[in-house]
Amino acid sequence: MSILDADLGNLGNAVTRAEREGADRIHLDVMDGHFVPNLTFGAKTIAALRRRTRLPFDAHLMISEPSRYIDEFLEAGCDSVTIHAEIDEPIEPTLRSIRAAGRAAGLCVKPGTPLSALEPYRRLLDIVMVMTVEPGFGGQAFMADVARAKVLAAREYLSHKLHGGEVHVDGGVNRETAELVGGLGVDILVVGSALWRKGADMGREIRLIRALADEGYQYALNEGVAPIPRDRMVTFASLRRDQARHLREEVEAAGIPVLLFRSPEDPADMDDEARRWVILIPASAEVAATERFGRRRTALQRASA
Ligand code: DX5
Ligand code: ZN
Repeated sequence: MSILDADLGNLGNAVTRAEREGADRIHLDVMDGHFVPNLTFGAKTIAALRRRTRLPFDAHLMISEPSRYIDEFLEAGCDSVTIHAEIDEPIEPTLRSIRAAGRAAGLCVKPGTPLSALEPYRRLLDIVMVMTVEPGFGGQAFMADVARAKVLAAREYLSHKLHGGEVHVDGGVNRETAELVGGLGVDILVVGSALWRKGADMGREIRLIRALADEGYQYALNEGVAPIPRDRMVTFASLRRDQARHLREEVEAAGIPVLLFRSPEDPADMDDEARRWVILIPASAEVAATERFGRRRTALQRASA
């Protein structure tokens, strides 16, 4: 949820309300009055808001010189920082600083900027943000053509990420446009003014927009065949403990979350050394994990036999 259109005199309560009403994250629109014709808030405000909620903070820096302030935004507690591809200063060092701090690094493209502008930086990206309005203000009309042209294609720039790469859509998202962007496989819908309407039921609006986006994802994408549900876990291997631990370390090092359990197929009281352990991974990472670790898994299965 973007707080750009919240009561700027009461941002602390705005973020606690957002959390209470069911927002997944806070999207922080930082504007310097130079990169965009508007001025909002900086790292100090974000640091103050950080104390008011546990929700993840996605910083959207619409500023010309992010390199000057990046350390402050990281210290303020941003979980991800997205800068713009159109800035004049070098981009790579700032993306590296964000990642070196263990946060997610993103690049954002304005409606008129082609996705190819991301090419030199693709391996440093965790997030691709597609603007569907001209950056600078909330409450603008959604650009459907831009969304259709860019959102699905944006995922290609995250193909190096075996898991966890995110495509964000920002600008004009509401209950009228949510199904379309959901149908383009978006991961994160940034929603602003649609949620801050006076007297509106914010919680209900969040649920509606989320449901419409999911409807689009489930039924508009993939010719109507529901793609892999996002958070289903699948068994990737069943091995003895030592081998299971080795494989877990390697798969996790590649960025894929792993769960390791005692195999339900062995008796509960069986010795942990003798019994099998199952490795679970997200279904969405199964193909990539098999490509990358299939042979290793087979070798470990032999060693486990
Ligand atoms: C605009 C910002 C957006 C904006 C979204 O420059 O980047 O995050 O706040 O607000 P709505 O949803 O009203 O377009
Ligand atoms: Zn934004």
